[in-house]
Amino acid sequence: MPLVSIRDELARAQAGHYGIPCFDVFDMVATEGTFLAIEDQRAPTIIAIYAGFIDRPGADVFANAIRTMASQATVPVSLILDHGASYEQCIKALTYGFTDVMFDGSQLPVEENIAITSMVVRAAHAVGASVEAELGHVGRGSDYEAFGGQRQGFTDPALAERFVAETGVDSLAVAIGTAHGVYKGTPCLDLDLLAEIRRRVDVPLVMHGGSGLSEEQFKAAIEAGITKINVATDLMLTAGAKMIETAKADDASYFGILDAARQSYRQRTAYYMDLFGATGKA
Ligand code: 13P
Repeated sequence: MPLVSIRDELARAQAGHYGIPCFDVFDMVATEGTFLAIEDQRAPTIIAIYAGFIDRPGADVFANAIRTMASQATVPVSLILDHGASYEQCIKALTYGFTDVMFDGSQLPVEENIAITSMVVRAAHAVGASVEAELGHVGRGSDYEAFGGQRQGFTDPALAERFVAETGVDSLAVAIGTAHGVYKGTPCLDLDLLAEIRRRVDVPLVMHGGSGLSEEQFKAAIEAGITKINVATDLMLTAGAKMIETAKADDASYFGILDAARQSYRQRTAYYMDLFGATGKA
């Protein structure tokens, strides 16, 4: 089926209390592995392309390849721009056929975040795409002890209510104790804060920085109101380790190493689909 905006699947997941996984991919091998898992598990899934990649030569070709693969899939798949850094970047993604865009103004003054998010919402809605924004800031795991552990940058629930009302955004990424990349220290989620945000806004809530959380933390976050969960680092680390292991074999080959990465993405994305309760929901 054609790529679809994730809007409807997020609404279904929010009502059904399960999570929709969002996986960042950087190449065709990872993408192929992820599509194999999508069919294996019959899980509605979001494929994400990181904003840093959208300006590279060939980004439109990559997006087109994903669109073709989705059209051959029997399960709904969405393509989102992850962490769009500007209005212009979001528009570029929309012209490349992305079904959804994230504008990340989380490090801007809040009024500026509201202003640009509102513009992206107007443009995206005009072409049927949904928009995710971020309020509060999900930082890097390498700095975790200095911010996450100190509750720095966490989302303010009252501001979240105002932000959603003023921007008309379709989903909201919140800062509740997760971080991108590998955590220095142990991640600690503020589920009470999450529940308070959930009470105040009705759009699906998004948790970035999934890699490194425990199964219990994922389940508790979904229970407390998270609907979309982003995972990237763990997929790359696991596939990288498998490629290195495969390369050490006496009969190691180029194709063997690529297939190790493909199968690693297949297995690891399937694991998250199962864990989030998305398996079988298509
Ligand atoms: P991780 O790389 O920490 O899993 O975070 C992924 C993410 O949030 C992408 O937006």
